[in-house]
Amino acid sequence: VTGADFARSDLDGMILRMFMRGAGRSAQEVRRRPVIGLCNSWSELNPCNLGLRELADAAKRGVTAAGGFPLEFPTISLAEPYIKPTTLLLRNLMAMDVEEMIRRTPIDGVMLLGGCDKTIPAQLMGAVSAGIPAVTLAAGPRAAGCWKGRTLTIESLWTFDAQRRSGLLDDAEWLELEGRINPGIGTCNVMGTATSMAIVAEVLGMALPGSALLPATSSSRRAVAQATGERAVEVARAGLTPDHFVTPRSLENAFRVVAALGGSSNALIHLEALAGRIGHSIGLERFGELSDDTPLIGDVRPSGPQSLDDLEAQGGVPAVVQCLLSLLDGEAVAGDGRPWAEVVSTLERVDGLALRSLDAPVAPSGGIAVLHGSLAPQGAVIKRSAADPRLWNHTGPALVFDGVEEMGARIDDPALEVDVGSVLVLRGVGPVGGPGMPEVGQVPIPARLLRSGVTDMVRVSDARMSGTAKGAVVLHVAPESAVGGPLALVRDGDPIHLDVESGGLDLLVEPAELERRKRSLTSPPRPQRGYELLYRDHVMQAPDGCDFDFLRATGGRARSPEPAERSR
Ligand code: FES
Repeated sequence: VTGADFARSDLDGMILRMFMRGAGRSAQEVRRRPVIGLCNSWSELNPCNLGLRELADAAKRGVTAAGGFPLEFPTISLAEPYIKPTTLLLRNLMAMDVEEMIRRTPIDGVMLLGGCDKTIPAQLMGAVSAGIPAVTLAAGPRAAGCWKGRTLTIESLWTFDAQRRSGLLDDAEWLELEGRINPGIGTCNVMGTATSMAIVAEVLGMALPGSALLPATSSSRRAVAQATGERAVEVARAGLTPDHFVTPRSLENAFRVVAALGGSSNALIHLEALAGRIGHSIGLERFGELSDDTPLIGDVRPSGPQSLDDLEAQGGVPAVVQCLLSLLDGEAVAGDGRPWAEVVSTLERVDGLALRSLDAPVAPSGGIAVLHGSLAPQGAVIKRSAADPRLWNHTGPALVFDGVEEMGARIDDPALEVDVGSVLVLRGVGPVGGPGMPEVGQVPIPARLLRSGVTDMVRVSDARMSGTAKGAVVLHVAPESAVGGPLALVRDGDPIHLDVESGGLDLLVEPAELERRKRSLTSPPRPQRGYELLYRDHVMQAPDGCDFDFLRATGGRARSPEPAERSR
């Protein structure tokens, strides 16, 4: 079906028109082309995306001004704070919702309106698979809060939580803070997952250049919403399907930009899933190479001290692309249809502290490092830009928690046998075990150690971590423990060795002993019905992007990468 069906003179065309006429649309309106669907993830259960309702109105003005016929429709919406146990469990469901709504309705093109972490990846995945012309508009970051003279962004919450658990914040202050941290609507105001994925959409060319970092409630975001509506008409008229923009080279460009800004480790999962939708695989090895030779040039929260507003003031994503151009494929197409090299060729450089040059980076390598070893034969990741460098090379005894409940019950127990050198292991929280890889990888530092001034420890899990969190946190360990990965074999006291620079993560236990432990492993129960059963049977591991095997462009289960040979 396409928007052309509205113009048919037969009964089918009559039916399409008469229902719209019944909704008050004019005879001229229902014959306008192209028909642009506005796929909106606005929801009152998703405050990060609340601004999308008003932005859709601005976008409709743009579609209409360009001669199109805008029709807004809802899909499910995934809010990090409100979907339990985790939004990643439902990302593929949302992607299917988006894909099927696009594919089965009489539209010629679609404008995707997303924001909170999984909503942009789900929309991109669905749109790529549906294969009709598409553009993206992000909700934009919310303003920063303020309390007792301090600027608050979302990651301040982790500091306040640690202070409360240490007895440094009383109930009245805790209550006051709940109204202070988020002073408005919009997505989390640091280089977390939502911002990283909005930047990904912009670098891929699915969103207009310069749009990702505009504040959620600014007039400039409303203006870019209108311009995106106009652009949606252009891409529909030109027949520019998402595979024109989402290509192997643009995916690598997008990851380099995220790595250069110390963006979210979740970007690896979503980019790999998106790559799978065009029949491609980036692979953990390549992610590691790209991060290793992309200097960290963003000094932005949570990895650095500067704000997203500071980064935007220095020129936003186009300025980052300009700085990185020698490492990027400048021929990849930006959201206005021009090659990125042309887009940034006349950009005036703005000095500031949020964005450095390649010659004077914050660090010589990007924020994300890939690990392999006997504890993670198919890989793991660590956000090194957010970790205390003193822990980059560390060996310590494991302290194991089986699941979040056990961790919560024991972590602050004064009798817990733990010291600053321990390696906190959390398992049973991977794609299958979680289910959905909840963002719990940042195991809290035990209260007893917090009180003695400990600020970071090595933590290892098969979970993910919020893009707003910090610490020496090893994530995405694959295979996960619930499918029999080596993480399932770890026992308290086992030595674990982490070496970020050489990319190593090893369980220092004799193979014969591990073989013996394997015999007593059991699998978690299989769900009996519904979406969780579909999810359990088809979700792939983290290195494959946690997509469903049957949704990849090539079909069939992806081959997980072999354990890497790494230099020691
Ligand atoms: Fe929605 Fe952070 S919780 S963007």
